[in-house]
Amino acid sequence: MTVGIRTVGVIGAGTMGQGIAQTCATSGYQVLLFDQKQQLAEQAIRKIESSVKHLADKGKLEQQAALESLERLRSVQTINDVSADLIIEAVVEDLPIKQSVFSALENVNAPNTILATNTSSLTVTRIASGLNRPERFAGLHFFNPAPVMKLVEVVQTPATSSDTLAALRDFCITIGKQPVMVHDSPGFIVNRVARHFYLEALKIVEEGTADVETVDELLRASGFRMGPFELMDLIGIDVNLAVSKSIHSAFGEESRFQPRRLQQQKVDAGELGRKTGKGFYRYEGRSTKYEG
Ligand code: NAI
Repeated sequence: MTVGIRTVGVIGAGTMGQGIAQTCATSGYQVLLFDQKQQLAEQAIRKIESSVKHLADKGKLEQQAALESLERLRSVQTINDVSADLIIEAVVEDLPIKQSVFSALENVNAPNTILATNTSSLTVTRIASGLNRPERFAGLHFFNPAPVMKLVEVVQTPATSSDTLAALRDFCITIGKQPVMVHDSPGFIVNRVARHFYLEALKIVEEGTADVETVDELLRASGFRMGPFELMDLIGIDVNLAVSKSIHSAFGEESRFQPRRLQQQKVDAGELGRKTGKGFYRYEGRSTKYEG
């Protein structure tokens, strides 16, 4: 465990919050999970229980370690109950909402608590702009699925202190991740580069050059672990669109970052990917049938 960090608060129990909470609990940290919808936090705890039990059944985690991990994890009813040494926010990609979460957290936490955002694309510096202690604030950008993906971008603002960065780097190592220190800039490194992976693929399908399945198949065959459409379904098409819009806006609406009509259509139809059972593909059990 990192010196000074024993309890981790996780705000938001969606795709990312759930994965981050699981990772921290199985790495020995006490975890407090809060979601504005209490039933989602409870649902997330049940999903984590089943995921941790599955890991134990497969021999990837000792049975005793699995039980202890689950004992370290609990959901709390209000944000005021989240008193921790490190708090990682993973709520919707919306600047005012994230700012209000952090201002509430600052009110109920000790001055040395480190606050971190898992934003994919918002300016970490702007999220920190209303804080009393911006030196204890940074980005901690996990990738999906958080228990599996090794990389974490540790994002520093001009105000982040070197102590905070060192603690976050050490923390990432204790949870089995590979921290990469980056300066705050739109989309950081991975999401900025990856934007073209998604946007060009969407353009190809919109133009009728190839269909979703073909594009995915070709990119997998060329060495990518996943094609862009199956990856958007995993990420959440709504989340991916929010990131596209945010990076587009941060780069002065440069056309190379222009979000695509097809993303918006899927979001308007409520077809957000795996989490809704349908996105670019339909998910029934494990089947992934292309839906167009
Ligand atoms: P999600 O939509 O699955 O979950 C968001 C959760 O936040 C929901 O459960 C919602 O009820 C909760 N929430 C909303 N407002 C809240 C508030 N004020 N207080 C407490 N809870 C609140 O979203 P997801 O995919 O987990 O994304 C969360 C953050 O992580 C976003 O900033 C996103 O950009 C970022 N991210 C997402 C990745 C992905 O692949 N989905 C990858 C890396 C980062």
